[in-house]
Amino acid sequence: MTETESAADAPRPELRLALMEAQLATLFDVSSVLNRSLDLRDTLSEVLRTLHDHGGLANGIVSLVDEDSGDLLISAIHGNDLEPFSKVRYRPGEGVIGRILEQDAPWVLKRIGDEPSFLDRLNVYDPELPLIGVPIRIGDVGAVGVLAAQTPQADTLIDQRARFLEMVANLIGQAVRLSRTVRAEKRALREERDKLRRTVRGNHGFENIIGHTQRMRLVFDQVRQVAKWSTTVLIRGESGTGKELIANAIHYNSPRANGSFIKLNCAALPDNLLESELFGHEKGAFTGAVAQRKGRFEQADGGTLFLDEIGEISAAFQAKLLRILQEGEFERVGGGRTLKVDVRVIAATNRNLEAEVRDGSFREDLYYRLNVMPIYMPALRERLEDLPELARFLITKVARQQGRELTITDSALRVLMQHSWPGNVRELENCMERAAVMSESGTIDRDVISLTGLDVGAPPPLAGADPIGPGPGPGQVDLDDPELDERERVIAALEQAGWVQAKAARLLNMTPRQIAYRIQTLNIKVKQF
Ligand SMILES: Nc1ncnc2c1ncn2[C@@H]1O[C@H](COP(=O)(O)OP(=O)(O)O)[C@@H](O)[C@H]1O
Ligand SMILES: [Mg+2]
Repeated sequence: MTETESAADAPRPELRLALMEAQLATLFDVSSVLNRSLDLRDTLSEVLRTLHDHGGLANGIVSLVDEDSGDLLISAIHGNDLEPFSKVRYRPGEGVIGRILEQDAPWVLKRIGDEPSFLDRLNVYDPELPLIGVPIRIGDVGAVGVLAAQTPQADTLIDQRARFLEMVANLIGQAVRLSRTVRAEKRALREERDKLRRTVRGNHGFENIIGHTQRMRLVFDQVRQVAKWSTTVLIRGESGTGKELIANAIHYNSPRANGSFIKLNCAALPDNLLESELFGHEKGAFTGAVAQRKGRFEQADGGTLFLDEIGEISAAFQAKLLRILQEGEFERVGGGRTLKVDVRVIAATNRNLEAEVRDGSFREDLYYRLNVMPIYMPALRERLEDLPELARFLITKVARQQGRELTITDSALRVLMQHSWPGNVRELENCMERAAVMSESGTIDRDVISLTGLDVGAPPPLAGADPIGPGPGPGQVDLDDPELDERERVIAALEQAGWVQAKAARLLNMTPRQIAYRIQTLNIKVKQF
């Protein structure tokens, strides 16, 4: 659509040269503007300003295709705020701008007011002046926008100006492509992050913490209450009772859920390492500190720090911890600058801290700082009613890992109920995993459980000792001991008889019916083999 110059009105070489020199300088400015920032709108309006100030091009406009609607929207307009033009859109083919996009070719209009398809929606153009519009292209996508500007008057150099505008449009095209790539990658990353967040949060939802007993219901209530605030929480309980699981649940159900959950096992490190782990260190603070490093407190800023096995830290370290819990302040190792963080602390211990405070090995002031909101995790043997559901839940977890179906039988569950579980849920989890490995068919019955080496029931009778013989064998309870109550006597007899009820009945001079009745009324759990 550009008009070819006739030989007669070819411009003088001096004029051409002056223009070219100005254009080269402008091009240099434009490319450095485009390189400066990733904020497309800002850079585009700066490009238009450069074109105006140094390139002799007025009323510059960049419009870009909106990827969702396919319409052209105004992305920058020289000398104006974008806001009043945010509603203006051109469909491809509509008006001068829409036509340039659709035709994907430059268009030079000597007097824009003469063009019938000129819509003048923007009301910024001078109808007396020429308009040059060129497509903005991205390599394999094609035209994605239009760059348009007016020249002061129709002169013999207008085609040269059009070619120059094309060069600028090519540079803009690269910037648009880069900005689109960055935006797409940002969006992909954000989507992935949100998906991961949902998964992580889902993994730490209450439905993954099994327990219907009174004790566990209390724990859930406390977690729900305490999660809302930034209160320090101290989780107490034996190893394997789910302290870490609860710490996670508090974090992921709290307003800090989008912040980090950082964990540190205090028992795992000697004092000096613990200090630099928690507080970080400056470069050169000690041999091996080759670079500055952020500590866990800094990493947890805005989130939660879980200090596991807090009962294991030394007196010197207790003092340091007290300070940060009280003031929220600390210094990196080898650094003089005081740093402040916003961290919620959750601590856990299986120790009897009260006893340690009494004997002076745990600071009382730190104890009170930590013990603001204690949560007590019951041992598994104190909530055996939860065991069947726990076992099924853990089996399902293993099944998912192994990619096959696993079921556990009632007889197996009865065997599990006989064990005292000193290692609590962690021990049960390991036992279920071993059982799954041992089970070829995918059914876990009591025979599979016995293959796991779980210690259930009485030890087998000692070799040489006759359990039915008169008097107690070595290490056995005397059934005639007057100190024994009825329940203890029946259990002792059952143990000596290897839990064969008929044999135990004979030891007690009872009939099998009588002993069965006693087992029932005395609520004795019968061990099965
Ligand atoms: N109530 C529960 N429901 C489901 N799994 C549990 C429960 N309690 C503990 N577990 C599992 O048992 C294992 C040990 O729990 P953990 O939180 O590490 O215990 P602790 O920190 O008290 O030693 C983990 O794999 C955990 O997922
Ligand atoms: Mg633990």
